[in-house]
Amino acid sequence: MLDTETISAADQLHDGTREEKLRKLSRQAEHCTRCDLYENATQTVFGEGMTDASLFFIGEQPGDKEDIAGAPFVGPAGNIFNKCLEEAGIDRSECYVTNAVKHFKFRLRGKRRMHQRPNAGEVQACRWWLNGELDLVRPHLIVALGATAANSIAPRKFKVMRDRGTILPFDEEYALLLTVHPSYLLRVRDDMALQRELFVRDLRTAAQFVHEAAKESRRNTGTNGAGRR
Ligand code: URA
Repeated sequence: MLDTETISAADQLHDGTREEKLRKLSRQAEHCTRCDLYENATQTVFGEGMTDASLFFIGEQPGDKEDIAGAPFVGPAGNIFNKCLEEAGIDRSECYVTNAVKHFKFRLRGKRRMHQRPNAGEVQACRWWLNGELDLVRPHLIVALGATAANSIAPRKFKVMRDRGTILPFDEEYALLLTVHPSYLLRVRDDMALQRELFVRDLRTAAQFVHEAAKESRRNTGTNGAGRR
């Protein structure tokens, strides 16, 4: 668990394999009322991916498309994320992808649902689920996509633009890499190609790190070196 003051959702799951526990957690999260965001969102968007993934991506919160589909990163930001993952040689199906906040926060402009950034209280409330996911997946590396994700796991400790792209050993359990949120690549006006290249470079650094960590883990345990047990 990342924060000693927060009990993890995984602590209250006693029986079952990790897959079963993650499924159970996801089902519990469907009824989450830990903050008010459930009131207007369509559904909880829980994380998805490999249960023993080495790479664990955290975004901000589901967007309009994700809220409807019930899956993370399936809209425009997800499209560019997928393309960049591919360029960096990362297979998304071998990763775990989730968000700091599991409900879509928006305000209405006419009929359009405009994204609103979650506040610190909403992020903190959702740490219950994020900690649970982390405790069950136990990845080698957490990749925080953007400032909300970075603040959700290491509040006020790092700055994305200052600290991006390097492996930050920020606590005893996990290594962390910060990079920009994929939607930044859709918004940025100047140097879009360069920004995209830098994002892919950060992803390659993440891939290289987990590759090395897996080799090390194989040497030490004789396992396949996927996410930690
Ligand atoms: N942005 C995010 O942070 N997460 C998603 O799932 C989609 C868009």
